[in-house]
Amino acid sequence: MLVMKTNEIRNKFLKFFEKKSHVIWPSDSLVPQNDPTLLFTGAGMNQFKDMFLGKGNLDFKKATTCQKCLRTGDIDNVGKTASHHTFFEMLGNFSFGDYFKTETIEWAWEFLTQELKIPEERLRVSVYKDDQESYEIWGKNIGVPPSKIYRYGEKDNFWPANAPLLGPNGPCGPCSEIFFDQGEKVGCGRKECEPACDCGRFVEIWNLVFTQYNRTEGGKLVPLPNRNVDTGMGLERMARVMQGVQTNFDIDIFSPIIKSLEEITQIKYSGKDGHAILMRRIADHLKACVFCISDGVLPGNEGRSYVERRLLRRAIRDGTQLGVKDCFLYKLVPIVSNVMQEYYPDIKQRRENIARIVKSEEEKFHETLELGTARLKELMDVLQRNKQKVLSGQEAFKLYDTYGFPMDMTELILEEKGFAVDKDGFENELKKQRLQARTSSQMTGQVFDTGPLSRIKDISKGTEFLGYQEDACEAKVIALIQGDTLVEAAVAGGEITVILDRTPFYGESGGQIGDTGVLESNGNQVRITDTKKNNDFILHVGKVTKGEIKTGEVIRAKIDIQRRNSIRRNHSATHVLHYVLRKVIGQHAEQSGSLVAPDRLRFDFHHFSGLTQEEITRIEDMANEIILTNVPVVVKELPIQEARNAGAMALFGEKYGELVRMAAIGDFSKELCGGTHVHYSGEIGLFRIIGESSVAAGIRRIEAMTGMAALNRDRDKERLINEMCNVLNTNEDKLIPKTQDLLSELKNLQKEVHKVKQKEISGKVDSFIEHAKEVSGVKIIARKLDEATADDLRKTADMLMKSAKEMAIILGAAQNGRVTIIAALSPNLVKCGLHAGNLSKEIAKVVGGGGGGRPEMAQAGGQWPEKLDEALSFATELLSKKIREGALLSSG
Ligand code: SER
Repeated sequence: MLVMKTNEIRNKFLKFFEKKSHVIWPSDSLVPQNDPTLLFTGAGMNQFKDMFLGKGNLDFKKATTCQKCLRTGDIDNVGKTASHHTFFEMLGNFSFGDYFKTETIEWAWEFLTQELKIPEERLRVSVYKDDQESYEIWGKNIGVPPSKIYRYGEKDNFWPANAPLLGPNGPCGPCSEIFFDQGEKVGCGRKECEPACDCGRFVEIWNLVFTQYNRTEGGKLVPLPNRNVDTGMGLERMARVMQGVQTNFDIDIFSPIIKSLEEITQIKYSGKDGHAILMRRIADHLKACVFCISDGVLPGNEGRSYVERRLLRRAIRDGTQLGVKDCFLYKLVPIVSNVMQEYYPDIKQRRENIARIVKSEEEKFHETLELGTARLKELMDVLQRNKQKVLSGQEAFKLYDTYGFPMDMTELILEEKGFAVDKDGFENELKKQRLQARTSSQMTGQVFDTGPLSRIKDISKGTEFLGYQEDACEAKVIALIQGDTLVEAAVAGGEITVILDRTPFYGESGGQIGDTGVLESNGNQVRITDTKKNNDFILHVGKVTKGEIKTGEVIRAKIDIQRRNSIRRNHSATHVLHYVLRKVIGQHAEQSGSLVAPDRLRFDFHHFSGLTQEEITRIEDMANEIILTNVPVVVKELPIQEARNAGAMALFGEKYGELVRMAAIGDFSKELCGGTHVHYSGEIGLFRIIGESSVAAGIRRIEAMTGMAALNRDRDKERLINEMCNVLNTNEDKLIPKTQDLLSELKNLQKEVHKVKQKEISGKVDSFIEHAKEVSGVKIIARKLDEATADDLRKTADMLMKSAKEMAIILGAAQNGRVTIIAALSPNLVKCGLHAGNLSKEIAKVVGGGGGGRPEMAQAGGQWPEKLDEALSFATELLSKKIREGALLSSG
């Protein structure tokens, strides 16, 4: 058999189907671009769901892709088996109502036997048990002997597996699978072994799905308007077959990662023992994370970010089990980038940045491990003290959940010290949390979204956006949505979402917020307060303010042009900022998110430390220079390759089609962008940075203003300075020295006041001690200090405390209509059971208040100053009583 590199297989596949007049379509991002119901893209067909349902508007019927996929369903098998992955690439060919079973099967066979030259006798196939048509195509057209065609049920030969019975709803259909036979020597060795056997002899290499049904509520299989094809070939598996190696981890795009791991760990990869499992898992998980980060997902605590954090942490932990003490994963990022760069140039371009993010997560996790270990030690001490042996499930879960401390580590450490953990209890807590997460998560994994929009897709392909050129236009009302329902009309006062056939309103996307404006017709009016985007539809959200609005009628749609102009300015300024940032602090400072609003812009970018004032000034200066140069801003559509050749920046995680929009600001910035822009850079006006902060590890944020907003902000600042000058009775030049003088004067005065107070307190202290009541050898002082603050009271109490061994002190003061009480006890009294917190609380009741604190010192407050004397007499009595009891106790 031929030996073929992974890149070669990928290219051959795409080219083969291109020759069969398929469009080579780019992979969707791992974050599904048009499907909020999915956590990650898990199959090639995800991005084509609307096409299968007859609602999509791509203008071709045959496509082929190499799709980046991430699935975590089989995560526990990763590393243990030869072929499980979280991240993998899936090759596929798709027909949207074009060819069906015959061509699919014939082309698949042709590709495998003629392009890849796999000997026919090494292949077996399976079909769905009731799919006679496919059975016959394999038998009659291709000539596969009946002994090598297997008929299986819904579990093996329906996609999604078991869909008729268990769902999910959405496109589905019978499938036919192709297997590579590794020969009798591999696996169970039984003569009658067949593809359904899980011994590993047969490698499933290609799944041909005939997507002809739409599963709806209750498991009904409704025939789709078109009969479609969705095939999926796991690239890594195919490479394993073509490279004649034992596992996917031995292929050319994995072995360099494993080799580097051998160097880092100084452990030989045997392919078999426990170490091999760990190494494979590290390689898999790291690759998944590199691709996630490149698609804009950063490690975090929710949704996708949490999945990524878990993957990274599992890999780090596996590293520690291999004896690696320091951060190591980040060192492997360039290796992943090297093996993947041919088809994924972005990964190469961003590898330093990705490595930094991985490293920062590693550092964080090491800290977590330290904290967790310390906490676990405390817990073991408690167990020891209570003579217990088993750590509760709740505590173990808390360690896992709050500290991010892995359960198997908890187990390991406990075991070493002779303890155990309640695993069932832990599992229960875990289950509870999962249930909660599932119910609170929006991402249900439904194969497609339901609701009014899905019905609108039946009648319209989408809204035409005219807003690049027009501020207003005539448009037809396609649909009206109120709440979750499609309605025919809405009258004044009604909140409504309007869908038009065309519109000048920009739907929120790419960081730019939605337009506002009005829809009008013959005295009727809808005020639009926000505009959103959903797939190809633009949703105008607002309220009917006059008359009514009806489906089918023609209205005039007009945006708030002043507001849009401000947005334009901020959007173009964002591009200028992006360009300048990379010049000033380095090429790594790529955009990771943005918000373009009328009054300001927010720009998040990759960088690891805060910007200095000097850097901020340079950025601001350079941006303003580009603005003042007043270069034209040219926005045009062009093929993606041309845009890339021109050096246009693409964004992390964004997926682009063949034709892209590029915004060029003179010869400075070039970016792929769907937003709205000014015509000349000068229109941006003044550019001011108003804030710089941290958003997450490795991500910084700049907030800025442009145009009139920046001018107004500067004017406000000027006004503030003028007011300060008025208040301080000075002028701008002298504002700082005058303020400094005042501050030092204030400081001197404070010192003076302090001295006087100290003197006064010392005088009082002497007199208090002289007149103190004494009970059982304890001096009791319950006195009032006029006009004293809590701090004065505390200081007095401290000074008093030093004057005798056994003391109980209650000091009270009334100031501004409120009472403050301080209670202090010498250590011996505390030992005898007296508690300053409890005493102050009881005493404060007399002045209508409460309080509490530590046993030796506490503070309380109240609202009846007139009762302070009464409270102090009560305090004396209370203390005397308690001290007597305490004395009895300690002597008894
Ligand atoms: N959707 C099918 C799969 O994921 C074929 O592409 O296996």
